[in-house]
Amino acid sequence: MRKVIFDTDPGVDDAMALAFLTRRPELELIGVTTVLGNADIETVTRNALFLKDRLGFEAPVAQGSGVTLLGKHGSHAKHVHGQNALGDVPIPDLIHSRPDGRRGHRMMIDLIRANPGEVTIIAVGRMTNLARALDKDAEIARLVQGVVVMGGAFGTSGHTGNVSPVAEANIAGDPEAADAVFTAHWPVTIVGLDVTQEVVLDVALLERLRDHGGEQGRFLYEVSRSYLGFHQKTRKLDGVFAHDSLAVAYAVDPSLFTTRQGPVRVICGGLASGQTIQKMERAPYPSTAWDPHPAQSVCIRVDVPRVLELFTGSFL
Ligand code: BDR
Ligand code: CA
Repeated sequence: MRKVIFDTDPGVDDAMALAFLTRRPELELIGVTTVLGNADIETVTRNALFLKDRLGFEAPVAQGSGVTLLGKHGSHAKHVHGQNALGDVPIPDLIHSRPDGRRGHRMMIDLIRANPGEVTIIAVGRMTNLARALDKDAEIARLVQGVVVMGGAFGTSGHTGNVSPVAEANIAGDPEAADAVFTAHWPVTIVGLDVTQEVVLDVALLERLRDHGGEQGRFLYEVSRSYLGFHQKTRKLDGVFAHDSLAVAYAVDPSLFTTRQGPVRVICGGLASGQTIQKMERAPYPSTAWDPHPAQSVCIRVDVPRVLELFTGSFL
């Protein structure tokens, strides 16, 4: 079983991914860290604590960074995830779970040091907490088993950015942090829009979860309502992108994906800010922008039917 730290900005698809994670016997959730993104840090941390109550997991939840590495608050995604960032499902005033006293990046460091060689970080928000953890304790890079990131867009299956023609939200929200994470000497696998937008949880699938997926299946259905409206309106899609659940699927079974190796950099600033670029192994560019950096894995193809079966089967 892999020990997992889930770094997240819940978020409808984050909530779905966390529910999926807690249903998988291959993964043991040992900590949840929050980061600004789909809403401000107080809202996403409240949502993570609500999910702890609702999904019934034991792992501690620690509040992470409320600003980017450069101190910006950034824009939020209420138009996508609703006013409360959880599809506007009612959230009770009284939430039983309390946040861990440590800051997100500190708890991340502690958990990695307590479990050397055993921890996989699944990061499905901005990379700010990971970059801060590396900055405070660079040695953690050689102590983790791996990092799986939902973020970026490489154009390999025709999918480009979702916040600009070239940039995806989690990377564009803190490009400096993403560049620090991708160029660190730890094994990163990037599950970008190239594969996450290939996997649609359609209306029929969501209704199956509602009708046959028990309490959690009903919750996934409820939480998806306004998110579905957003996809129908802006994408003409009768379903929702699974985004963050694809990073969980990779951690469960990497054979569901085809990956490509090579150093990855992020454009920081300007018109293309947040663009992710991978240098292909065979191209010898005479530039220090690429060569000192480790090859990382970028997912370029996904076995859609098998991923949908894995996801749905986890609840039915
Ligand atoms: C990513 O951005 C967030 O809005 C989602 O939760 C997902 O992590 C998709 O671009
Ligand atoms: Ca997310």
